[in-house]
Amino acid sequence: MPAANSARSLLAFALLTGFVLVRAADPVPPSPAPVATLTPLPAVEPPPEPELAHLMATLQRLTHKLALSADAGNAPLAAFYLHESLEQLQTIQNEAPEYENHPIALLIDRLARPAYADLQASLNYPVTPPPPASREVLLRGVDQVIASCNECHAATRHAFLRITRGTETNPFNQSFLPAPPPAP
Ligand code: HEC
Repeated sequence: MPAANSARSLLAFALLTGFVLVRAADPVPPSPAPVATLTPLPAVEPPPEPELAHLMATLQRLTHKLALSADAGNAPLAAFYLHESLEQLQTIQNEAPEYENHPIALLIDRLARPAYADLQASLNYPVTPPPPASREVLLRGVDQVIASCNECHAATRHAFLRITRGTETNPFNQSFLPAPPPAP
């Protein structure tokens, strides 16, 4: 049956060419045109090193405000910055537990946190007791904190970073004075 045979071979030919065409088109997608604009970095990029200096800068600002609050004899405000400072220490421990082979998280536990204990006790944090701690007591507590900053800088080969009270002037657009008593 020649007609059936040729029809079959035609079908086979069509299938084969179709197959070949599909195979030829399949594995080679058209190459994308070169893109001149900046493309975002791939998601597999390793996370950047934590910037300890940035985390420290925040701690420095909080410590400065803590000192200004203490210097103004403002116990409730000092309690606020004490709380913020302790939170920032926790953030540093989470984000930069080690830095340039220095055990930052461990040093914070051993050296930094104990330095806040007296201040914490004088403020009976988180409940500020009546009567509020005096300016002298608050400043003594702050000085212990500042000493611990500098001890850790020395322990991590950054002794040239020397923290002070910095209470001579107030560089912030913020008042650290205690709120005036409510009008009778
Ligand atoms: C666990 C040890 C440790 C403690 C505690 C610590 N620091 Fe640091 N600090 C460092 C190290 C290490 C660096 C250097 C980071 C770097 O090389 O990027 C640094 C850097 C700094 C810097 C420089 C960054 C800048 O923005 O100028 C300041 C300021 C600073 N610390 C303030 C403080 C203050 C304030 C305290 C205390 C409340 C404190 N640090 C407590 C280890 C410590």
